Parts: sequence; C-alpha cells; structure tokens
Amino acid sequence: MNIKEFLNSEVLEVLKSLGYDAKDALVSRSNRPELSDYQSNAAMPLAKVAHKAPREVATKIATELEKKDFISKVSVDGPGFINMSLTDDFLANVPTTKTRSKGRTIMIDYGGPNIAKEMHVGHLRSAIIGESIKRIMRATGDKVIGDVHFGDWGTPIGMLIAQLQSEQPHLAYFTEPFKSVDFDISISEISALYRRAAANFKESDDFKEKARVATFELQKKRSGYIALWSLFHDKSVAAVKENYDHLGVDFDLWNGESDVNDLLPKLVDDLTQKGMAQPSQGALIVPLEAKNNHERAPLILKKSDGAYTYAATDLATLIQRMNDYHPDNILYVVDARQREHFDQVFEVARLAGIVPETTALEYIPFGTVNGADGKPFKTRSGGVMTLKALIELAVDKARETVPADADKNTTEAQAHKVALGALKFQDLKNARTSDYIFDTDNFTKSEGKTGAYLQYAVARINSILDKSGVTIGDIDSAQIKISHPLERELVLALRRFPESLVEAYIHREPSVIAEYVYTLAQRFSTLYAELSINGEKDENLKLSRLKIALLTRETLKQGLGLLAIECPDRMLKN
Ligand code: ARG
Repeated sequence: MNIKEFLNSEVLEVLKSLGYDAKDALVSRSNRPELSDYQSNAAMPLAKVAHKAPREVATKIATELEKKDFISKVSVDGPGFINMSLTDDFLANVPTTKTRSKGRTIMIDYGGPNIAKEMHVGHLRSAIIGESIKRIMRATGDKVIGDVHFGDWGTPIGMLIAQLQSEQPHLAYFTEPFKSVDFDISISEISALYRRAAANFKESDDFKEKARVATFELQKKRSGYIALWSLFHDKSVAAVKENYDHLGVDFDLWNGESDVNDLLPKLVDDLTQKGMAQPSQGALIVPLEAKNNHERAPLILKKSDGAYTYAATDLATLIQRMNDYHPDNILYVVDARQREHFDQVFEVARLAGIVPETTALEYIPFGTVNGADGKPFKTRSGGVMTLKALIELAVDKARETVPADADKNTTEAQAHKVALGALKFQDLKNARTSDYIFDTDNFTKSEGKTGAYLQYAVARINSILDKSGVTIGDIDSAQIKISHPLERELVLALRRFPESLVEAYIHREPSVIAEYVYTLAQRFSTLYAELSINGEKDENLKLSRLKIALLTRETLKQGLGLLAIECPDRMLKN
C-alpha cells in the first residue's frame, strides 16, 4: 500500500465531510520527521477561499483526523500545517495492495551504441540509467518496450567503406555487380579500421569526399556496400550484445538507424509538401521559430552532400514507432549534450503531425562521467576508458569480497556481481542530470555509499536468517510487534517503498531508489547494532525482529533489482 496516497484520500474524505470543495489534500512526507510521519498542507488554501484563519480550519480538520484508528497523534503547527503520525499497529500491519496498472505503453530509447565504435564509459550511463527507468516503469504496471536504437547508418559507415577500399582495393565488395567474397574481420579490427578512417577524415579532403560518396551509395543500396555493411553490422551487434549481457542490460528491440532508411525520402517529400522543409545553401532544412526570445538553429534534414541527417533518421524512427506501437510516451535516455537535437526533432514531429499530442515525447538527459581531474574519464595512460576495461578493473577489485572457501566458479560469478553492483550504484546514486567523478579507489568497498555496502547488508541478513533456526515460512507468517523506536523507524522506512517507487517513476529518477535502499540498509545496520535479533529471549519479539529482517532483505533486493543490481548470497566485508 502507498501510505501517502492512502492518507491523502483519507484527509480528502474529511475535507469533504466538513463541506470543503477540495481536490487534493496535499499530503506529503513530514518535513520534520522527529515531530510526525506525514503532513497535510490543505488548510491554508482552503482558509483563503473561505476567508477564515488557517489555524482554525486546520484545527477542525485535525479534530476529525484524531478520530481515525490509524492515527496516533495530530498537531497543528506554524501557520496551519497538520502533522500526523501513524499508530505502531497500523505500521506493523499495513496491508499490501496490488499496484493498479495504468496499462500505459512506453517506449524507451537507450543504450544507443554505434557500429565499429567500441563502447566506452559514456555508453555506460545511457545503458544503466535506461535499464533502471525501464524496470521502475514496469514495476508500476506499465508496458515498457526498450529499443537500443543502434547507430548503424550514415557517414561512419561510409568512412569505414572508404578506408577499407583504400587499404584493400581488390576486395570484391568494391566491384559491381557484387557476387560474393570470402572475407572476415574481427570487431577489434573494425574498431581499428574506424580509428584510421576517423584520422583520415579529419586530415584529408580527398578522403572526406570518398567517404561522402560511399555513404551516398550505401544509402542508395549499392549491393557490395550493403554486403560489407551487413558484415560490420553483425560483428558490431554481436560485440555490443556481449557487453550488454555482462552489464545485465537487455533490449526488446534491436532496431537501428538503418531500419528507417526506406522511410526517409517520403518523410522529406511530406515535409516539403507541407511547406515546412526548404532548401538552404544546398541543404534541406526546417526553420524553427524563436522560443523564449532565443533564436533557434533550423533542423537539417539533408546535408548539402545529399546525405540524410541524424535528425531525419530520428523523425523517421518516430513514424515507425507510432505505426508499430502507438506508445503513450517515448523516452530518450541520451546524454545532456543532445538537448538541442531532441528539442528540434520533437518540435518538427509535432508540427508535421508525426506524433499526436496524446503521445508524450520526453528527453531524459544525463551528465558526464569525469575523472578525478574533473575532465571526462580516461584510462591511466590517457586513452578512452572502454567499458570492457572498466568492468575488468572492477572485477579485479571485487574479488576481495568473496569468502575464501568459495570454489572458482562461485568466485568469478560473485566478483562479477559485486563489480557491476559497484559500477551501477556509483552511477545511479547521483541525480541523473549531474556529472559525477568516477572513484576508482573506493567504489567496490563495502563501506560508504556503495553497491557493495548494500549487497553486504543483504548477505548479512541472509546469515542472520540462516542462524535463526526458524524456517523462512515461519518467519514470514510471524507478527511484527514494534517495541523500540529503532524498530519503528525501520518499519516506517520499509512501508515507504511504494512511495519511493512512485517518486522515482514521476521524476524518471533512479537515484530516488538508490537513496531509498541506502537509507533502509543504514537503518537496519543501526537497529542490528543496538538490538539483538537471534539473541533475543522473548520468543515473539525475536520472531518479530526476524520478520522485520526478512522484509528488509526482500525490500532491499527488490529496490536493487530496480537498479539492475544482483546480490551474492554470502559476502566478506572489504
Ligand atoms: N547513437 C547515438 C550516439 O552515440 C545515440 C542515439 C540516441 N537515440 C536516438 N534516438 N537518437 O550519440
């Protein structure tokens, strides 16, 4: 049950019974937890309308609330805040209610890796934030479709083709009509090829022109180029899938930019027909009106070299998504530097009628991962930190958390869980839009605000439950009895999980869940330091504390699950 929503509807009933015409009881968590659990700020606006003193209105409401059996204490404070606390009995026995599914269809575009480019730490954020938002939305009952939106079309491919042709001109890909060829290339060779191509692209106008022509002919589906593209594509997808598998991130759709190639000419025709698109210096653009007194750059559909742009591809992808899924919302989890791009794409999509007002378009930006020097995170030697290297670094450190008696397979599996928990938690604990400094020294430690701290909390509860001599079934059916303020605090935190889920959902903000599980683990830790569980003499109290421990473990696991963090059964502190 979502207690905040429950209280809100209860206070609303009271307001109605007192003759007030209110739509919302403005219930929130208390600003002063030492004073109360929740507060309602409804009296002030109501008093204003009724031309009465706010405290007088608040007192009337409070008198009615006092009669409720779930309320232990009500007070009117300040200008007319109504502070409420719940009875221990209510907290101990909060009924579980099923989340009502709104049945919304949501598409999330995240990950966004590119052909031939090895994934680096920047791609990590889109993948893990997107995965977490997907899980949070699913947990509230939405139907969520994740799409990787592979960057597999356009200039980068033209560059690869031109580079390979300059190195191995006799390959059959380059003679038309293309028949077949016995040629293979590994993903690391493709990445190296791309690096050489990028260097040439920067330096030589001649190479640039070759890459342009290759891109153009690829988009017109020259058969040898398509064959070569397939090879690059399949190798890249396989490599990217392996990376995502390691990360515990998975997608429902593996669509890419190339999938909408055939929609591009019609898109451009339609926008031209509608009078939206117009030529400008050889390119084709859609001018955009100023917003908030700020001039805006036009959206470019086609460059002067005839190639369709990233923006054109995103518009065509919207056509496809609307056709195939009619989603209620489309979310783009893409770094903060692409704000202008999405601003343009969303506006043109609306103006052109590609996306109706009933479908929300949401740009979900995130900040940069920096090194200790405040600049984008690099390896020790100054190179780009690949995702693979980063995971290896974390796994090495995480081995310290594995109990010495574990066999080799268990050790590796566990080191992997701890390493990924560390990577993900270090990222997700930050507000999505802020930049953060990647801490390579302490991020796998089980002290501090880390993934390992939380995994350790779960492992410790496992061992408490194991040693209790009581079966999980018996613990589960035990009664919670609140006998100490520390128990009350922990139980209150446990009961607030549904509220945190809703908050994380509303703000598309996994850090709300990260903060929640961290607080929960801390409260359990404090309780365990002060009160004995298995050592408790009173049998009912022991059972109640075991039940609280069990609930804590389940809630921690559920919360961590929303962050895509798994927990090992046993763990050493490191
Ligand atoms: N591949 C793009 C990049 O690396 C990200 C794609 C984001 N999604 C989108 N629909 N544009 O920048």
